[in-house]
Amino acid sequence: MTLEMSDDWLRLRAQTPGAEKAAYFNNAGAALMPKPVIEAVKAHLDLEAEIGGYEAARDQAAAIDEVYCSVGAVIGAPPENIALTANATDAYARALSSIPFEKGDVILAAWSEYASNQIQLISLARRLGLEILRAPQRAAGGADLDALDALIKLRKPRLVVAVHMNTSSGFIEDVAGIGALCRRHDTLYLVDGCQSLGQMPIDVEAIGCDFFSATSRKFIRGPRGAGVLYVSDHALEMGLEPLFLDLRGAVLLNETEYQPVESVRRFEDWEFSYAVLLGFGAAARYALDIGLDRIERRLGELNRHIRGRIADLDGWRVIDQGEPLGPIIPVHATSGDGEHLHNVLLKAGVNTNYTPHAWAPMDDDLREAGWAIRVSPHYYNSPADIDRLVFALEEVL
Ligand SMILES: Cc1ncc(COP(=O)(O)O)c(C=O)c1O
Repeated sequence: MTLEMSDDWLRLRAQTPGAEKAAYFNNAGAALMPKPVIEAVKAHLDLEAEIGGYEAARDQAAAIDEVYCSVGAVIGAPPENIALTANATDAYARALSSIPFEKGDVILAAWSEYASNQIQLISLARRLGLEILRAPQRAAGGADLDALDALIKLRKPRLVVAVHMNTSSGFIEDVAGIGALCRRHDTLYLVDGCQSLGQMPIDVEAIGCDFFSATSRKFIRGPRGAGVLYVSDHALEMGLEPLFLDLRGAVLLNETEYQPVESVRRFEDWEFSYAVLLGFGAAARYALDIGLDRIERRLGELNRHIRGRIADLDGWRVIDQGEPLGPIIPVHATSGDGEHLHNVLLKAGVNTNYTPHAWAPMDDDLREAGWAIRVSPHYYNSPADIDRLVFALEEVL
């Protein structure tokens, strides 16, 4: 059983220097960057070395403005609603800290949150005396929308949070379904789209969220060290501002007062790695040029094919459940130590990620298995990469 790879995908693979070095299946960790992204980062670093950091930013002001347009276009948002951040967790924290919670307020989590998000929620709840509720789940996975609707009516949460695609399983949440409920009940809604960015077309308007957080280094194929926060007009008009602003987000009026800026810039810091930001912008343009619907289709083919191949292997099983399942494929061996197996695969030139249950303590499938090796393909993976993966999984046992 092999999967065809058209000339178009081969051409994109040829623009990915790392693709020939290993069979790379760690895109849910950090994807391999394509040449235009690498060149954008290097060119700006060179410029900074040549003329100075502040001068380079001024010189590239138009290109930097363009980053907001490109990253925004990937999620269907205009640049006026885009804040650039250091990573997804930073974006999430800025959104969370901007909501004026009061003691006793409820935050409703639609499904298992990413561990770092959950830590932030718990910390906030402890400090401010909030209650975190977890929405009931459907047997088929994801939030039960009817139960969620009833819970929102009953408990009137100040905020609903959801993860578009989980980190330790391929389950894709119905974030638009949840968004429709949040709109109906006029509840603020924060979506973590860290894994879905770059995998599929995303439309934050259609999702109906007030905040959408994501990172540069995963499926969108940007460099490490940048993230994005979408902030809706509604949230901006409410005057929400992060707890800690700096002089980009606010003007210091005197010793005791400051004035937050009107625009979405109040969700940003003054300092950026502009080389990394320009790389993020190049990655967004690269994905837009390919077409996110085409990327989604190709990832769907790879996902089905790889899941099928692993299901046929003795000693391995794919552990995530639910529908739909995207191209983050957690696999577990019936014998052996996961971390050791992962290291052996790495030595054999097959890059995956090792995920112990402790990294995703609310993932029920992972709880039962104890650990998973996460296989996350991208469109630049070749049929030979997949054969190498399957062969290595067989051999390692
Ligand atoms: C679903 C999800 N949310 C958030 C994050 C955190 O992203 P970052 O490390 O850029 O803060 C990750 C990282 O793996 C993730 O998978």
